[in-house]
Amino acid sequence: MSKIDVVADGAIIAAHWREENHIPPPSRFVGQAYLTDAAVFERFAEENFPECFREYADLLDWKQYWHTTLDSSRPPFFKWFVGGKLNACQNCVDRHLGRHRNKTAFYFVPEQEGEPIVALTYQQLYRRVNEVAAMLRDFCGLKRGDRITLHLPMTLELPITMLACARLGVIHSQVFSGFSASACAHRIVDSASRVLITMDAYHRGGKLIDHGKKAAPTVAEAAKEGVEVEKVLFWRRYPGQCRSEAPILKQRDFFVDEVLAEYRGKEVKPEIMDANDTLFLMYTSGTTGKPKAAQHSTGGYLAYVAGTSKYIEDIHPQDVYWCMADVGWITGHSYIVYGPLALAATSVIYEGVPTFPDAGRLWRIAEELGVNIFHTSPTAIRALRRAGPDTPAKYNHRFKHMTTVGEPIEPEAWRWYWEMVGKREAVIVDTWWQTETGGHLCATVPGIHPMKPGSAGPGVPGIYPVIFDENGSQIPRGSPVAGNICIRNPWPGRMLTIWGDDARFVRTYYSRYCKPDSTDWRDWPYFAGDGALQASDGYIRILGRIDDVINVAGHRLGTKELEAACLTVPEVAEAAVVAVPDEIKGAMPDVYVSLQPGVSADDGVSRNIAAAIIDQIGPIARPRFIWLVPDLPKTRSGKIMRRVLTAISTGRDPGDVTTLANPEVVEELRALVAEKVTGVG
Ligand code: PRX
Repeated sequence: MSKIDVVADGAIIAAHWREENHIPPPSRFVGQAYLTDAAVFERFAEENFPECFREYADLLDWKQYWHTTLDSSRPPFFKWFVGGKLNACQNCVDRHLGRHRNKTAFYFVPEQEGEPIVALTYQQLYRRVNEVAAMLRDFCGLKRGDRITLHLPMTLELPITMLACARLGVIHSQVFSGFSASACAHRIVDSASRVLITMDAYHRGGKLIDHGKKAAPTVAEAAKEGVEVEKVLFWRRYPGQCRSEAPILKQRDFFVDEVLAEYRGKEVKPEIMDANDTLFLMYTSGTTGKPKAAQHSTGGYLAYVAGTSKYIEDIHPQDVYWCMADVGWITGHSYIVYGPLALAATSVIYEGVPTFPDAGRLWRIAEELGVNIFHTSPTAIRALRRAGPDTPAKYNHRFKHMTTVGEPIEPEAWRWYWEMVGKREAVIVDTWWQTETGGHLCATVPGIHPMKPGSAGPGVPGIYPVIFDENGSQIPRGSPVAGNICIRNPWPGRMLTIWGDDARFVRTYYSRYCKPDSTDWRDWPYFAGDGALQASDGYIRILGRIDDVINVAGHRLGTKELEAACLTVPEVAEAAVVAVPDEIKGAMPDVYVSLQPGVSADDGVSRNIAAAIIDQIGPIARPRFIWLVPDLPKTRSGKIMRRVLTAISTGRDPGDVTTLANPEVVEELRALVAEKVTGVG
């Protein structure tokens, strides 16, 4: 798929969106907002770069203040706050004990409505984190710089474990709980983790999911790939009772609640880390089959998420803030755990699905806890709108601020969010960013900028976005032409590198537009991999990925990973995966496979392909359709033409196909798909 093609695809989608009008932020919000003075943009202007980011770093407690704000001598391996020393856990927990000891740090809301909501104070969090840190150090033998893989669902034990790791300087790598054993194993291997922490079970969609049973196959697969997991620790959803059928292996598997009994009341001194030491790894999909880990720093990352939590999320100490993302994704790391806790906020963790048991669940939770900042994805907004378009009006929740993140939001869904959920009283902030960027890149500053449905805002303070065409020329504001969005400058939240693969880091994010011989950061724009347009008001509209990545419900899946899963089914000869728009999830994968000679196409093969995808990646990657086809459209050099398949799947004209090696197959596939999707051949 060439870059131009996909940007053009995005532009076609965008053409359905007319330019929307500005809507001023509600005065009730502006009256209390942290930032209402546009002088912030002077403070963060290019002439004040990089010193402007001191303002964010000064939100933290440093054991040793840094001497150099930005060391850009070896682009693109930029280092922030060089010489600074701090501990992320100490910043998120210990330092709040003075003023906020009895304040709720987290509310945990179980999916079962009959189960009580748990309020964990900063003091209790401190105790629990210390005990877990003592266990990780003394029972697991972990020390600073070691990696550990967490495969935990949305319960309090996830942030507690993350913070315990941060306290020791152990690098955590949390794998989204919906991912399969196999996906978890690859990440264990890539990070060389000796310890896996998981949970026996959790509630989701009304079911108690046996999560613990993924552990043994995870460990077995990691061993096959050469990494021996020495210990598996199982948190138990209900301490004292095991809700998993997983066999427990003596010497290797342990119940955390039992082990912790030994560490009651233990305290662990926070390890003093360098600003550029690694805090965590977060895997994400890219253009090749292998997921890559964004390696995030301690000082720069924490400063950036604290700063953006304050200025973009507008979290004040008295707010009750609820981000509905999963802590297993970057949004949860940055804007459920590290950012809000660095500000001593109260952050909500909800175990289950938004519409369980009905479309009013979220609004009941919001009412009960007095949530006033709400943060979710367009997929959730679409699903809530479909499940109960009038439901929010029946509840008395009152939001001041609502965020959206992860995918483009269509103005229709935006307006429902604004009118029904926010009751025209809450400012909406559409935040564009990525796993790799640590925190927000483009968004409106909510007390200053008007909102514009369907567009993320301009660059947030200190971020200077630019849109380049294929040749590296800047596309001016107001141009109807889309291009590749880049960020001209380094910023503290950006990942340090890709874990174990500096060359891939440079190649993926910089080689496109950099001047390789230059040591001036201005010659090293960060290439985000999204197509975008910038309107004349400076607002950016993101059109979607330009690489082989499908954004399903705000989560990146590599088409190559899905294709590789298909090819593990012995009957499959070739596979190609393309993205198709989906009303709720934004996009879904459509899978095209040709079978080995002599194999007949039957439902059994399709079922095996679906099972392989779910088994190797997770249910999130479930395809919309699996098309068993006689052949895939190819160029004469044998390259599969995914562009043509996308057109077929979306009912568009595949364009000129006469140069293909097998043009006749296009009509055949078109008829097959049209018949199934629309009922007409
Ligand atoms: O394509 C963009 C889309 O999600 C990608 C990043 O995905 P991930 O690394 O999983 O991080 C998701 C949470 C930050 C981007 O490259 N994306 C993210 N936010 C938006 C968006 N697309 C449009 N509008 C957004 N607000």
